This record gives sequence, C-alpha cells and structure tokens, in this order.
Amino acid sequence: MYEENNQKKINLEAGLRETSQELIDWTQNKGMEFRRLMSYYKCAIREVETKFQVLDEEYSLQNDRNPISGIKSRLKSVPSIIEKLKRRELDLTVESIEKNLNDVAGIRVICSFVQDVYKLSEALLKQDDIKLIEKKDYIKNPKPNGYRSLHLIIEVPIFLEKEKRHMKVEIQLRTIAMDCWATLEHQLRYKKGIVFSDDMQDALLNCAKISMEMDSKMDVLREQANI
Ligand code: GTP
Ligand code: MG
Repeated sequence: MYEENNQKKINLEAGLRETSQELIDWTQNKGMEFRRLMSYYKCAIREVETKFQVLDEEYSLQNDRNPISGIKSRLKSVPSIIEKLKRRELDLTVESIEKNLNDVAGIRVICSFVQDVYKLSEALLKQDDIKLIEKKDYIKNPKPNGYRSLHLIIEVPIFLEKEKRHMKVEIQLRTIAMDCWATLEHQLRYKKGIVFSDDMQDALLNCAKISMEMDSKMDVLREQANI
C-alpha cells in the first residue's frame, strides 16, 4: 500500500511536469471563472468555520471547557485539482471541478475528546441549512493503516448579491491524538523516496493503537470529571 503511495507520488510529479503548459493555458483561459469558483469555496469555508466557532462558544458557556482545540482550513491547490481531475479521467473544466470534487474546500476540526467529535458533528448536521452528502466514520471503522477521523461532505449555502449557491465542503473531525498520528504519518509518507517496510507499517499501526488507547482513557477521565 505504501509502495503504491510512493508510485502515485512519482506519477503525480511526472504528470504535473507534463501538464504545466496545459495548466498555464487553462488558468489563463478560465482565469476569472476559476477565481470566482475558488472565492465561493473560500466563503463556504468561512461559513462552516463560523458555525463551529459558535458551537464552541456555546459549549464553553455550558460546560466551562472548549470542545474544539483548533480549526485548520485549506483550499485545494490548482496542481492538486488538475491532478485529481486527470487521475479520475474527468473534464478539465470549472463546471467539472464543482460537480465532481468534494474536497476543494477543506476544514479540519481538532477536538479535545472523542465524544466532542460526535457532539459537534451531530450539532452541525442538525442545522437546517446544512445538507449531508456523505459521511465516513474512520473512528468506528479505522483504515487498515490505523488512520482515524470522522469525515463529512456537506453542502452549505453562501448568499451572494443576486443568488444563493450551495457549496460542498469536506470536514474532518478528529481528536488531538488522532491529529498527532495523522500529521506524523503524512509527513513520513511524503518524505521523498521512502518505501515503508512491513516493520515500519506495523510500527505505525502500533502508534495508532496507542493513540486509540489514549483517547479511550481520556474519555473515561472526562466522564469521571463529569465535564
Ligand atoms: P481522496 O481522493 O484522497 O480524497 O479519497 P477519498 O475520497 O476516498 O477520501 P478519504 O475520505 O478516504 O480521505 C480524504 C482525506 O482524508 C485525505 O485527503 C487526507 O487528508 C485524509 N486521510 C485519509 N486517509 C489518510 C491516511 O491514511 N493518513 C493520513 N495522514 N490522512 C488520511
Ligand atoms: Mg481528498
């Protein structure tokens, strides 16, 4: 699996070199249309960020603690957008980006406890302007490499001068322990030329188990502390 990832990276780099002229042409021709779409995604990120900030504020008043330890947002880069469209053999158009890609706007919500992940996701999905497109619970069903997080694809409205647009946003909710593992695993995976041996994969899976145990123990402590 990890060798596959490295191969994917090499293919991606070659693919990007090959597409750089195409990329320049494309962004020049479609510049305005593309920038407008990106700015809509930026607005959607702001809407969702605010929703989480409001929930955090409310919970902190009720319980005297913050369920959110941090929020990180990102807009997918142009090369990543083009690479994904090409990999999936999709049209290289602005319409195709909006129709086919769910993760142009991405928000990562780092929570204190596992319970907070579910509490926040339920509270968000209950809001009447939020539409759930897809949910993947990698906490209940971790990936084979040990990755855990709750992934949501949602649609949120943004209100423009003359219209309302529904924009897709990918939300990843995870605890501090899950984020620690995922961030380090990502760094290791993207280190140039590294092919993970079976022992390294086992070690990573073991780290994921340790992080899972920590989350479980912390949740017991949270219950005992009654917070
Ligand atoms: P993508 O085309 O990569 O978006 O695949 P997908 O639609 O199957 O998405 P999935 O929900 O599996 O993962 C989407 C995102 O979750 C990735 O872009 C990463 O940010 C994160 N992610 C998923 N798996 C892993 C993993 O094994 N390690 C780390 N560090 N992050 C992961
Ligand atoms: Mg993705």
